Amino acid sequence: MSPNANHQQLLERIAGRKAHIGVIGLGYVGLPLAVEFARQGFSVTGFDVDESKTGQINAGKSYIPDVSEKELAEVVKSGHLRATTKMGELAQMDVIDICVPTPLRKTKDPDLSYVVKSVEAVAASLKRGQLVILESTTYPGTTDEVVQPMLEAQGLKADADFFLAFSPERVDPGNAKFNTRNIPKVVGGLGKASTEAAAALYGTTVDTVVQVSSTRVAEMVKLLENTFRAVNIGMVNELALMCHKMDIDVWEVIDAAKTKPFGFMPFYPGPGLGGHCIPIDPHYLSWKARQHGFECRFIDLAGQVNSSMPDYVVERVAEALNTVKKPINGSRVHVIGIAYKRDVNDMRESPSLDVIELLRKRGAELSYSDPWVPELRHDGHTLTSVDLEKAVASRPDCAVICTDHAAFNFDNLVKSGVAIVDTRNALKDRQAANIFRL
Ligand SMILES: NC(=O)c1ccc[n+]([C@@H]2O[C@H](COP(=O)([O-])OP(=O)(O)OC[C@H]3O[C@@H](n4cnc5c(N)ncnc54)[C@H](O)[C@@H]3O)[C@@H](O)[C@H]2O)c1
Repeated sequence: MSPNANHQQLLERIAGRKAHIGVIGLGYVGLPLAVEFARQGFSVTGFDVDESKTGQINAGKSYIPDVSEKELAEVVKSGHLRATTKMGELAQMDVIDICVPTPLRKTKDPDLSYVVKSVEAVAASLKRGQLVILESTTYPGTTDEVVQPMLEAQGLKADADFFLAFSPERVDPGNAKFNTRNIPKVVGGLGKASTEAAAALYGTTVDTVVQVSSTRVAEMVKLLENTFRAVNIGMVNELALMCHKMDIDVWEVIDAAKTKPFGFMPFYPGPGLGGHCIPIDPHYLSWKARQHGFECRFIDLAGQVNSSMPDYVVERVAEALNTVKKPINGSRVHVIGIAYKRDVNDMRESPSLDVIELLRKRGAELSYSDPWVPELRHDGHTLTSVDLEKAVASRPDCAVICTDHAAFNFDNLVKSGVAIVDTRNALKDRQAANIFRL
């Protein structure tokens, strides 16, 4: 079949919802995407190395809070979605979407091992007319420098025999307003045919598709977005430290500043960066930039400020305890919120973990409340979440609000008189001598 005919056939299969879609990596990104394609009538196969995940999906059970059990069960029951650990089945896919983790190594260098493993599996059965899309966040150049040569090693040519694109995932776990469907999707292919095919695919599922000229631009778009957040959070964290010294309420400053209807966007201070994206992605960019002899000064500076925040929180705990004439050593400190942000169960890179580690090193006795994280195994210790009301009744020496889940009611905590360090402004509008705001 000529390259043109391959392309035409793929477009027709996509338009007619006849394309068989494979999603590799069924986590926070892959599972919502697989469900959305299945809801549009495609036949979707989810691939994961984790048997417990594929088993739960096939039983119609969701382990991702943003994917409703009802929606998942419906598409599994209708036969539009199934999951497997058998990578050999990739050969039967028309489209393969790769959504595996892209963490950092201990040295803060990119760890592409999950992407490489997935691409090896795709390459093993690559066939003419297949569309391969990488969605994992990564540095500019990954698709054409790493993925393309691995796939072409089988003898087929990208953008002619098969199609290759990068499309960054922008999902925001826990966001009730924006989801896979209404978040615009950026798509950059290796060439025109690849961009067109990937745009056609997402056009079936996503309201707005934004085409860019290359995979590198698409890769850089995602890193700009997340670096923008990391740098602005770093700036506002520094402002919080400054305001504390100057005895100015940083939260009141931000609230007033955000009334400006143009040219300002609010960012908020906190106990540090968390999650799989903002603390990690800028390092992918600075690593790549260094290969080009370029130092990313903004990224480095923001990284320094943001990663110093847990230390600062512990200093504020020491200050709060000082008001009741107690040292950290031997004090009972109750940490409120372990997940890295409100109303999610994800504790990857959560600054609460750093705060706990630092407090433990200084001799604090620790407990925590987090309805989203029932058990915490970290730093060689296992803790179980305590209901907040019970924790208040046990009168800890200090409480630190690290994550302000909607389920928390702080009324009794504030009334109890326990010293509270509030890193999230969760106690906004409450005035009490026992509240210490970040
Ligand atoms: N979580 C987010 O909010 C978010 C947002 C935007 C982009 N991203 C990016 O998307 C990518 C995936 O992130 P995530 O949060 O969904 O990760 P995750 O850890 O929730 O899910 C990844 C899944 O991939 C599976 N996996 C690992 N290696 C595999 C392999 N070789 N074959 C098949 N499956 C494999 C894991 O078992 C896991 O289920 C990352 O690059 C991340 O940076 C994440």
